[in-house]
Amino acid sequence: MRSTKRLRAGLILAAAGAIAATFAMILSSSATAGTTLGGSAAEKGRYFGAAVGTYKFGDNTYMTVLNREFNSLVPENEMKWDATEPQQGRFNFSAGDRIVSHARSRGMSVRGHTLLWHAQQPGWAQGLSGGDLRNAAINHVTQTAAHFRGQIYAWDVVNEAFADGGSGGRRDSNLQRTGNDWIEAAFRAARNADPGAKLCYNDYNTDGINAKSTGIYNMVRDFKSRGVPIDCVGLQSHLGTGIDSSYQANLQRFADLGVDVQITELDVMQGGNQANIYATVARSCLAVSRCTGITVWGVRDCDSWRGSDNALLFDCAGNKKPAYDAVLRELNQGNPIPTTPNTSPRTTPPTTPPTIGPGGCTATVSVNQWNGGFVANVRVTAGSSAINGWRVTLALPSGATVTGAWSANRSGNTGTVQWTNVDYNGRAAAGQSTEFGFQATGTAGVLNPFCAAS
Ligand code: G3I
Repeated sequence: MRSTKRLRAGLILAAAGAIAATFAMILSSSATAGTTLGGSAAEKGRYFGAAVGTYKFGDNTYMTVLNREFNSLVPENEMKWDATEPQQGRFNFSAGDRIVSHARSRGMSVRGHTLLWHAQQPGWAQGLSGGDLRNAAINHVTQTAAHFRGQIYAWDVVNEAFADGGSGGRRDSNLQRTGNDWIEAAFRAARNADPGAKLCYNDYNTDGINAKSTGIYNMVRDFKSRGVPIDCVGLQSHLGTGIDSSYQANLQRFADLGVDVQITELDVMQGGNQANIYATVARSCLAVSRCTGITVWGVRDCDSWRGSDNALLFDCAGNKKPAYDAVLRELNQGNPIPTTPNTSPRTTPPTTPPTIGPGGCTATVSVNQWNGGFVANVRVTAGSSAINGWRVTLALPSGATVTGAWSANRSGNTGTVQWTNVDYNGRAAAGQSTEFGFQATGTAGVLNPFCAAS
């Protein structure tokens, strides 16, 4: 009897201990979750990040706020073309690596910013044009994305390529003058170099439904319809004293195209409305299930490119501003991302693996030729049965030499060149298509690709 009592008492004590431990765990995780930007965003399946500069890494106040509040980082300048390839073909990733390594050591994700942009190009690239610039740009995308392969959550592959004003068209730039397909060529090269990173198009003055955001919307819709690999759209959100009433509707219309949206460079001019505007942005993101995270463009007001606008969430001493409280409140009240994660089509495994049938495959090619070089996109289409892999043979005219490719393995670079699928694009259901591409010097002429299922 006594031993039964002792056993019962022991069990009760053990159970109480377990409950206390669980409670303590819940308390500590909810304390972090409810009281920091990153912790609260994570509770909702999202990230809350900041743009950082390595030149501030020795500043204790800065590092304390950074490490406590954020669960994602983006280099403000360290991954740009002028920083990473100061001389043609000579790469320097050391400052970017430092940010990646700091983030990884603290379990933060990293956004990569930016592979191609009309600004902050190294002097040597500013002096190039035509095929030389296109080749250099695609090489830059390939080398940079390959260096950081596996470490970047999302890349701003192309930044700010659309014009301001009412045209809804592209901005003139040396890159745009290499041909309208420069953006899709960059996305294909990035996918090839780092298939795991989400690939984003990023721009400003897109914080509502307007001519510029509609131009980008049309490009994304076109990319999705043609299989150009794009996964997300970044809305910078450098805001003044107001916010467009269609802010959330704009996020939603991009999400409805089948891409994620991210607020990538948020800052808001200080004034009567700063806290409300920050809150509206956070609330809008949390209301859109494909809005996966928010990044503010700096840590404290004094770290910001906007100087006296005092546009950030912390004052120069590292104190939380009213806008901080407003954002945290929205993060804690908002909707979590639904438990079924959004997956882009490329990562969705087919429910029944296709089997090789007698239907074979066909290939068609479209070429963008410029003086001295061209980019070719090859579309492989399965015949009347599904295929598990493919091989395309293509005879190039004399004088044409392949200099780079994406989404295919290659043997040879002149004469008859053979291309085979990479691991993620070998399978296609009957009648379905996949694409690969390459870049070459010389003249394409008429290309007749031959496809065989393997
Ligand atoms: O590092 C040099 C320093 O050695 C030199 O003494 C100093 C003299 O001016 O310049 C320093 O470089 C500056 C760099 O920021 C680092 O502070 C550049 O001059 C300056 O042009 C550069 O500005 C950056 C700007 O992009 C360049 O266009 C800002 O920090 C950065 O916040 C800003 O970020 C952009 C995004 O990439 C794209 N969207 C808009 C956003 C704001 O403009």
